[in-house]
Amino acid sequence: MRNVLVTGGSRGLGLGIARKLAGAEYRVIALARKESEPLAAALREAETAHPGSLHFFACDLGQIEELGGIVKTLRKKFGPIYGLVNNAGMSFDGTLPLMPTAQIEQLVRVNTISPMVLTKYVVRHMMADGGGRIVNIASITGFTGYSGLSVYSATKAALIGFTRSLAREAGRMGVNVNAVAPGFVDTEMTQSLGEEGRERIVRRSALRRMAEVEDVANAVEFLLSCKSKNITGTVLTVDAGSTA
Ligand SMILES: NC(=O)c1ccc[n+]([C@@H]2O[C@H](COP(=O)([O-])OP(=O)(O)OC[C@H]3O[C@@H](n4cnc5c(N)ncnc54)[C@H](OP(=O)(O)O)[C@@H]3O)[C@@H](O)[C@H]2O)c1
Repeated sequence: MRNVLVTGGSRGLGLGIARKLAGAEYRVIALARKESEPLAAALREAETAHPGSLHFFACDLGQIEELGGIVKTLRKKFGPIYGLVNNAGMSFDGTLPLMPTAQIEQLVRVNTISPMVLTKYVVRHMMADGGGRIVNIASITGFTGYSGLSVYSATKAALIGFTRSLAREAGRMGVNVNAVAPGFVDTEMTQSLGEEGRERIVRRSALRRMAEVEDVANAVEFLLSCKSKNITGTVLTVDAGSTA
């Protein structure tokens, strides 16, 4: 079984991605600070359906200096890492003039610096092992903008630039690097958007609906599969046509 790390795999999009990959013959290691109840249920289900396909590793990915040690521990325990899905992220909404500077720093640390440093430690080995796949979960806000999400959107735009350049850098060593840009998906992160906001998103999207966790998980599965072997440096938008 090929090992795939899914950061933020305890709920929302990350849990959906972890479950999908565990059912597709990968050995998934979900990383998050806490093991949520839905993840505990997924671990039990996976143990029955595909033993050894889903694992949980507790860590705070905002502790940048710990990331090298985490990768070392995981390689020692599970072996070479084939795929890395940089999904963990956070969001604070609020207009920039009122946003505490500590929140700006935290957003940049968790959403941008952490995936970059984690990727640094993982891609080294992928290059030495002769290949691998990296998928960065960005957001349509990284290219459309969204009022009240200026710092969050900047962290996601950074991931897109990171994806394109790293694809060029690591390609010759057989590593594909892509991003997925979801539109609005109903998870804990997006609970603050009220009914009216949701209706507006549905009304303005080409398909008159919202993308779902499953859609994002399918996109990630594709980008890890042999079907996408000649796709790198791209951004796959999964937004039911919100930006079409
Ligand atoms: N939902 C959307 O509409 C949407 C749209 C576009 C892009 N995205 C992106 O998709 C990704 C997942 O979003 P989501 O909606 O699924 O969010 P979510 O439901 O809030 O889940 C976030 C995940 O990240 C983990 N996480 C957060 N901070 C962490 C830290 N310091 N260390 C380790 N793990 C951490 C959380 O686990 P713990 O709290 O236990 O650590 C959780 O598993 C994010 O990058 C988000 O920006 C979401």
